[in-house]
Amino acid sequence: MLAPQTIHETTLSRDDMGFIAKLVYEHAGIVIREHKEAMTRGRLSRRVKALGLGSVAEYCAFLKTPGATGEIPELINAVTTNHTAFFRERHHFDHLRRDVLPKLVQERGGRRGRIRIWSSACSSGEEPYSIAAIARDVLGARHDLDFRILATDIDTDILDRAEAGIYPLELFERLPADIKPLLRLDGMAGRGEGRISDDLRRLIAFKRLNLIETWPMRGPFDVIFCRNVFIYFDTQTKAAILDRFVSLLAPGGFLYLGHSESLPQPHPQLRLIGRTIYERTP
Ligand SMILES: C[S@@+](CC[C@H](N)C(=O)[O-])C[C@H]1O[C@@H](n2cnc3c(N)ncnc32)[C@H](O)[C@@H]1O
Repeated sequence: MLAPQTIHETTLSRDDMGFIAKLVYEHAGIVIREHKEAMTRGRLSRRVKALGLGSVAEYCAFLKTPGATGEIPELINAVTTNHTAFFRERHHFDHLRRDVLPKLVQERGGRRGRIRIWSSACSSGEEPYSIAAIARDVLGARHDLDFRILATDIDTDILDRAEAGIYPLELFERLPADIKPLLRLDGMAGRGEGRISDDLRRLIAFKRLNLIETWPMRGPFDVIFCRNVFIYFDTQTKAAILDRFVSLLAPGGFLYLGHSESLPQPHPQLRLIGRTIYERTP
């Protein structure tokens, strides 16, 4: 363990900022613009401290050494923006509950039919647990369906938190009255914290997946959530990911984007059918 040192909070030089932005773009597809210097420096200071270094400039110098490849995932974990919430952008969950799942149950129930949903930038888990809560409500305890949620993110720290499923109770208390009972808890995890119930947790597989690398899954998915991550990518990255989403979506399946996101360009196999809801045409 290195002795704690004083961190000299000097501005990231243009060169260092360019160096970090290039590394992050190459490894995660995330575009960091020059005006985000203060935010980037703040986020990197966590790694500066953890490594016992004295400044972000020293951290950049360290990243340039051949032995620093193992630090790249930590760098990515440090720079990601993980803001999320239970039932964020509620209209997607309403669409899932009213229009998507009842139809799939009708089509596939009774034959152990397969239903698959992918939360492709799941952050700390609020999104996939909200999906699980809706699915449990619509599907009940029926065993004639093979229902699973895949929840992935690039950030390994945030995935650990997602998998633990432990949240401050105030997050549940703030939920609208009609959905609050759906997000069941098993009990108290600690003072002021609750743990998502096992029956919801069992529906989800959490895995690390980088959207700009190759994906191991073959699909098809009935619904893909890709919300509030395209905003960090450039047009070229978004277009390449979108093509791959389309190839993994079942015909008639749905893609949900975040509130300020849209397709990088019209896609011949995607039809906008609602607020940031796209349907894959047959
Ligand atoms: C703002 S959160 C969105 C969380 C959730 N989808 C929502 O809308 O509330 C963005 C997430 O995208 C993840 N992310 C960023 N770049 C990624 C990449 N290349 N591959 C996979 N996940 C990525 C981040 O780690 C972060 O958890």
